[in-house]
Amino acid sequence: MANVHVINHPLIQHKLTIIRDKNTGTKAFRELVDEVATLMAYEITRDMEMEEVEVETPLTVTKTKVLAGKKLGVVPILRAGLGMTDGILKLIPAAKVGHVGLYRDHETLEPVEYFVKLPSDVEERLFIVVDPMLATGGSAIMALDCLKKRGAKNMKFMCLVAAPEGVKALQNAHPDVEIYIAGLDEKLNEDGYILPGLGDAGDRLFGTK
Ligand code: PRP
Ligand code: URA
Repeated sequence: MANVHVINHPLIQHKLTIIRDKNTGTKAFRELVDEVATLMAYEITRDMEMEEVEVETPLTVTKTKVLAGKKLGVVPILRAGLGMTDGILKLIPAAKVGHVGLYRDHETLEPVEYFVKLPSDVEERLFIVVDPMLATGGSAIMALDCLKKRGAKNMKFMCLVAAPEGVKALQNAHPDVEIYIAGLDEKLNEDGYILPGLGDAGDRLFGTK
């Protein structure tokens, strides 16, 4: 079973509270999602491989460490995943960016694929797939399927808010993918929205309705 990491850092929890608030407007919502993505990227990269190098300080020569240069990719699930992408790239600016476009059919709640574009060297990269919401899990599962079908072998999934139903479905479908969550919520409502949640992430990010 894939590991689930709920990131309980006080800064993340504080910002997530403001994100959830229905009175938070589009500008603040967007800025806070971006900030939380950066903070989560710090946690998600905690196990990145390092290698030893030699560096000359103003006083002496010493052995120290740098990232081992593993190739990374960030894959937002469109639309709402876009809101978390720049926040991650602030910490790992050399990462390539792929896109998976999916929308949830409002009647069936099943995801529908409309766009996929990934870096060419898919097999060699560690991909961080991002979407603020993990509700039924259908979209995350389809996005990871999409990457695997094209050869991806190493993936993590990161979201702001998850329902237990979605976490379970994702764990079952992709037991090899580590899941990072800022807020693990109570349940889904009858329309497939996360409770307490934050509403429709795409609409709140982009000011649509
Ligand atoms: C939302 C969200 C996820 C999906 C989660 O996207 O951003 O992609 O729903 O739901 P699930 O876990 O039940 O699949 P939506 O379909 O509203 O598309 P949008 O980002 O284009 O608004
Ligand atoms: N998608 C959203 O944007 N919000 C939810 O609560 C569930 C799915």
